[in-house]
Amino acid sequence: MAAELMEMEEIRPLATKQVGSIRLEVFEDEQTVGEAAARFLLAQIAEKPHSVFLLPTGRTPLIMYTRLAEKVGSVDLSGVQTFNLDEFYGIPSDHSGNYRSYMQRELFSRVTIPAANIHLLNSAAPDALAECQHYENQLTAAGVDLAVLGIGTNGHIGFNEPGSSFQSRTRPVTIRPETRQANKFLFNDRLDAVPETAITVGIASILQARRILLLATGSGKQQALAGMLYGQVTEVLPASALQTHADVVVFTDKAAAETVL
Ligand code: PGA
Repeated sequence: MAAELMEMEEIRPLATKQVGSIRLEVFEDEQTVGEAAARFLLAQIAEKPHSVFLLPTGRTPLIMYTRLAEKVGSVDLSGVQTFNLDEFYGIPSDHSGNYRSYMQRELFSRVTIPAANIHLLNSAAPDALAECQHYENQLTAAGVDLAVLGIGTNGHIGFNEPGSSFQSRTRPVTIRPETRQANKFLFNDRLDAVPETAITVGIASILQARRILLLATGSGKQQALAGMLYGQVTEVLPASALQTHADVVVFTDKAAAETVL
């Protein structure tokens, strides 16, 4: 594994900047961000084959998953455990728009991770609160080594929308209109088909990860990214909670980083 990683041509960020405890690395474009993120995950597995990951969905990590599947080669993933950050609520568990289906398409159908090591929220759980409690218990017991996050244009992480408590744990939430809009690509571009509720791992649960990698690409993320790095630590901008974590790396493309360098 280490040899495989070393054989890869090095990709260097165009710029790096340390902002408090957050290390910012700026890459050329979203392709390069995806590539760098895939390598970051592989390096984590090389360092600790039994790593526990907290994983994102959305448009941003699509390239990361593709590159990861391409690169994983002979790497043994049998010890890896995954949890997802969030899931829609109130739609069938086999619905093609939910995050279970997304993860199946983008990652789990392409790599071999034992089914017992994959933890997903159930979008059709009969008792949402019981589902949250069970998931939170599993997550806490496993202990996350690396949380990979996206960021919403409104500064959300997971489905922790603005106003979410920094003490929050896995819980049912209402999805904001702008977030439903951003997710309609999973529902044949039909906004009315995007659920209004979801379950998300909370901010306190995310902050328990030993290390956090946040990905932000495209000019639409400039404002949220600037607020996260330089703004007040406030529940109005959930991602600003990351300023309180000791080990955060942010990979962005030039478009997202334009105002933060
Ligand atoms: P996106 O979503 O990758 O689809 O922009 C990011 C997020 O909401 O975390």
